[in-house]
Amino acid sequence: MAASFRIAMAVTCALVLASACQGLEVGYYKKTCPRVEAIVRDEVKKFVYKNAGIGAGLIRLIFHDCFVQGCDGSVLLDPTPANPQPEKLSPPNMPSLRGFEVIDAAKDAVEKACPGKVSCADLVAFAARDAAYFLSRFKVKINVPAGRLDGRVSNASEALDNLPPPFFNITQLIDSFAAKGLDAEDMVVLSGAHTVGRSHCSSFVRDRLAVPSDINSWFANILRRKCPANPTPANDRTVNQDIFTPNAFDNQYYKNVLAHKVLFTSDAALITTPATAKMVRDNAYIPGWWEAKFVKAFVKMAAIEVKTGHQGEIRKNCRVVN
Ligand code: HEM
Ligand SMILES: *[C@@H]1O[C@H](CO)[C@@H](O)[C@H](O)[C@H]1NC(C)=O
Ligand SMILES: *[C@@H]1O[C@H](CO)[C@@H](O)[C@H](O)[C@H]1NC(C)=O
Repeated sequence: MAASFRIAMAVTCALVLASACQGLEVGYYKKTCPRVEAIVRDEVKKFVYKNAGIGAGLIRLIFHDCFVQGCDGSVLLDPTPANPQPEKLSPPNMPSLRGFEVIDAAKDAVEKACPGKVSCADLVAFAARDAAYFLSRFKVKINVPAGRLDGRVSNASEALDNLPPPFFNITQLIDSFAAKGLDAEDMVVLSGAHTVGRSHCSSFVRDRLAVPSDINSWFANILRRKCPANPTPANDRTVNQDIFTPNAFDNQYYKNVLAHKVLFTSDAALITTPATAKMVRDNAYIPGWWEAKFVKAFVKMAAIEVKTGHQGEIRKNCRVVN
């Protein structure tokens, strides 16, 4: 009974809008904090125009928030004596995840305008949306439904269990997204976010450079010059993910996948099945295709396991539970 209800809901959500099923709503703060989206956008703009990499960090931040305990700001919580190992300190997030200071700045500004009204989870979603907007030079415009509540649980081991690592193959990637209600195309389309930002050498040297792989040899040699052969935390340098247009939120990623000029096994995996390879080619070759698909997949990801009612709260400070 419960299972068939869940399946019926899943089908409805797939047909209608994932967010509608979660009770999220575009313009959710119209009455309680009408300027919130403008306030967040101004903060994001300041940071991103100073350092495009922070924009990449914000786009990654929502993925890492939503895949662990749902989109509930759990990734923002700092360690405390009662909870010394939150998500933030787990290997997928530490030391690589960035952009937390933007959420803090946005929260400060929003609390001044409308104290106690806006969740940190919604700020993460707005900020990621705005980063995509600025880095795409205003091509990727997303109406983000809001109304998420902040969670009180944050556990490093859950981040390890739920976030796919860069050495995953296509089946593992599809399965890890399916576990969050996202399909193979969502996975392919959202992976396009690797068109901006950077990676630490430790995320790809072992399985892409140190052993035979399908990586382009020109690209591999550039990476070998920048990365230690055996990265340790002490000498773990970073490289841009997209060597051609590193700060542009565009479809160059898919051209790189086709040319084998991508960092991760998980990027290269997208052309290892005919169905996903077709998606990669469409995203690479059809103008505007990826941008339109990204908007939809983003809204879907931003609605994963959203908390309502007793399950959540509106934090005063995004780094600590109330
Ligand atoms: C498909 C599975 C995915 C895997 C295996 C994966 C893995 C990774 C890894 C290993 C890094 C580099 C971390 C480091 O070493 O510094 C990274 C960076 C990044 N990822 Fe993903 N990712 C995936 C999906 C996504 C999704 C869905 C998004 C967002 C929509 C995303 C956005 C980003 C961005 C923007 C960066 C650069 C961050 C920065 O420069 O600070 N990734 N990803
Ligand atoms: C975190 O999750 C793991 C695995 O689910 C569990 O064993 C552990 O007790 C949890 N830690 C805390 C502090 O809740
Ligand atoms: C992916 O990896 C899993 C786990 O190692 C393995 O069982 C599976 O056969 C692999 N699939 C593909 C398509 O390589």
